[in-house]
Amino acid sequence: MDLVIGPLDLAAHVDEALAVQAVAFGLGPDEVAVRRQIVQRHMQYRGARALGASVAGRLVGFVYGMPNSRTHWWSTVVEPYLRAGGNDFWLDDSFVITELHVHPDHQNRGIGRRLITMITDSAAEPRSILSAIDTDSPARGLYFSLGYVDLARQVHFPSAPKPYAVMGAHLPLRRR
Ligand SMILES: CC(C)(COP(=O)(O)OP(=O)(O)OC[C@H]1O[C@@H](n2cnc3c(N)ncnc32)[C@H](O)[C@@H]1OP(=O)(O)O)[C@@H](O)C(=O)NCCC(=O)NCCS
Repeated sequence: MDLVIGPLDLAAHVDEALAVQAVAFGLGPDEVAVRRQIVQRHMQYRGARALGASVAGRLVGFVYGMPNSRTHWWSTVVEPYLRAGGNDFWLDDSFVITELHVHPDHQNRGIGRRLITMITDSAAEPRSILSAIDTDSPARGLYFSLGYVDLARQVHFPSAPKPYAVMGAHLPLRRR
């Protein structure tokens, strides 16, 4: 497999990335249009960066994230849930994983694990946080195996039909 993993200029390749996310996560055209605006805004945040995985020059997976700020929309939503459990300190000095997606044709080959491990290895922060749909899923299985633990469950984002779990891990992530 001709797999290359490295830095991705996500602002310039947003359509390829969202095409991967659309099939991996199940996004319709309207949601893709909304995500395109959000991704472009996120990539202007301080320290925001992305990694891409390509096979034969075609993007098959990506991850992006940034140093967390309590002023970011995501933080303002999860903060009360974390605070209720005494976990809101995780919002400080934390690298947030905003998206991680691998095309279904290329899943279960270690690409997702490599993407999230590489991007967090480059973080100056001592820990990482993220949110994932609160269900037994490959994503949750991967995050648990990397050392992420649940910080809050049944977190409701406005307009998201399903509740999320917020998870956190100390960096560097656990190796197998
Ligand atoms: C989550 C995702 C990025 C993982 O990418 P991937 O390249 O398939 O992951 P990897 O091959 O690196 O790791 C697979 C790991 O996932 C977990 N996993 C895979 N399938 C699983 C399943 N059916 N049940 C539970 N865990 C599973 C395991 O921990 C596995 O680790 P292993 O190597 O010890 O078997 C990918 O499944 C995906 O894009 N899913 C849809 C989009 C999504 O949910 N993104 C995350 C949003 S929070």
